[in-house]
Amino acid sequence: MTWTEKYRPNYYEDIKGQDEAVKKIKEFIINFKSGKKALMLHGPPGTGKTTLAHVTARESESEIFELNASDLRNKNKLQEILKPAIEQKSLLQQGKIILVDEVDGISAVDRGGLGELLSLIDSSEYPVIITANDIWNKKLNPLRKKAELVQLKEISYNLVKDMMIHILRKEKLFIDNEILTKIAINAKGDLRAAINDLQTISRTEHPSLIGLDERNKETDIFNALKLVFKGKPTKETLNVFNSVNMNMDELILWVEENIPSEYQGEELAKAYDALSKVDVFKGRIYKQQYWRFLVYENILLSYGISASKKDIKTGFTSYKKPTRILKIWLNNQRTAKKKSISQKYARYVHVGHKRAMNEFPIIRNILKNPDIRQELRLTEEEIAYLDKPLT
Ligand SMILES: Nc1ncnc2c1ncn2[C@@H]1O[C@H](COP(=O)(O)OP(=O)(O)O)[C@@H](O)[C@H]1O
Ligand SMILES: [Mg+2]
Repeated sequence: MTWTEKYRPNYYEDIKGQDEAVKKIKEFIINFKSGKKALMLHGPPGTGKTTLAHVTARESESEIFELNASDLRNKNKLQEILKPAIEQKSLLQQGKIILVDEVDGISAVDRGGLGELLSLIDSSEYPVIITANDIWNKKLNPLRKKAELVQLKEISYNLVKDMMIHILRKEKLFIDNEILTKIAINAKGDLRAAINDLQTISRTEHPSLIGLDERNKETDIFNALKLVFKGKPTKETLNVFNSVNMNMDELILWVEENIPSEYQGEELAKAYDALSKVDVFKGRIYKQQYWRFLVYENILLSYGISASKKDIKTGFTSYKKPTRILKIWLNNQRTAKKKSISQKYARYVHVGHKRAMNEFPIIRNILKNPDIRQELRLTEEEIAYLDKPLT
């Protein structure tokens, strides 16, 4: 179970840093019969929007009916889903709340869905709670008028840190304060991100600061993907990946993973075509060792993917982290020791670092000798790495 799930608040009092929003949503439920029929929770990711909607249902002993984009697109399906919600009322005497989570995703993908949602709000006998990251999208204008707007704020650095300490206590784990500080700063108000980082770090054998830069990297790649997928292809598009601290293979994985969440139909086909050509060049580079082809890889991956669409896109898309990335990262972690050891060795015997890496099996043998280990000033971790049986 992930810690974000395990420590997801169940009651109002567990929700941190959102007192104003909690107060407003309580009032909204109490005054539902006389006031607005919908309430829109908006704010940055990981601040408790979805959580607050579910807590509200629990606290008001209501059942939650969650609708997604495809439900809203299909009138019949919508009716089908809502019918039992309405019919069961007399049977169970239980309240209901209709939740439309991440509505800004809907307006990007879908045309009719928003209109359907508006009429649903008008006809609903139950409170409708909507969540959104960004409500200033023009398409959401009518919705903004119909709903009461409640903003959730970024979680303050102190609260993020308090929450991490709370979790570590419950898990009976200890992690250096310096690391907690770094996680809290990196999270930039996103509590989900902080808790996820904390869990990842706590799983590593020697929690260290390595890997924390991953979060900054993610911010960069999200922005780059947004420019490529949503923006107009221009000369600048060619450079978007330059500012992302990732190698070509990693970039390809990110693009590959997220193409289907932005493109459909013909666009999807074109984008995959561009991506497959990236792969062709990759093969040529590898076979012919001709690095100039890297330029083409980059062009296809940025401009090629960007130009696969007919029109620019708006709205918010939450891009996914490729699952294979984690494996690459873990692998890099593993070779990190090998690198640092061969660097020390190379310096000592005056050979190039590359050569030392290539001859690592031999070096490994040489370094069985404790005197040489001491001479090279290997750290405990490096020694542990050398002593680990080869798999
Ligand atoms: N205000 C908060 N108080 C306590 N925990 C929170 C809060 N905001 C987020 N979290 C934690 O982060 C996770 C994700 O929150 P979520 O409500 O899904 O964020 P959002 O919908 O705003 O992106 C929750 O499961 C919880 O562990
Ligand atoms: Mg959410």
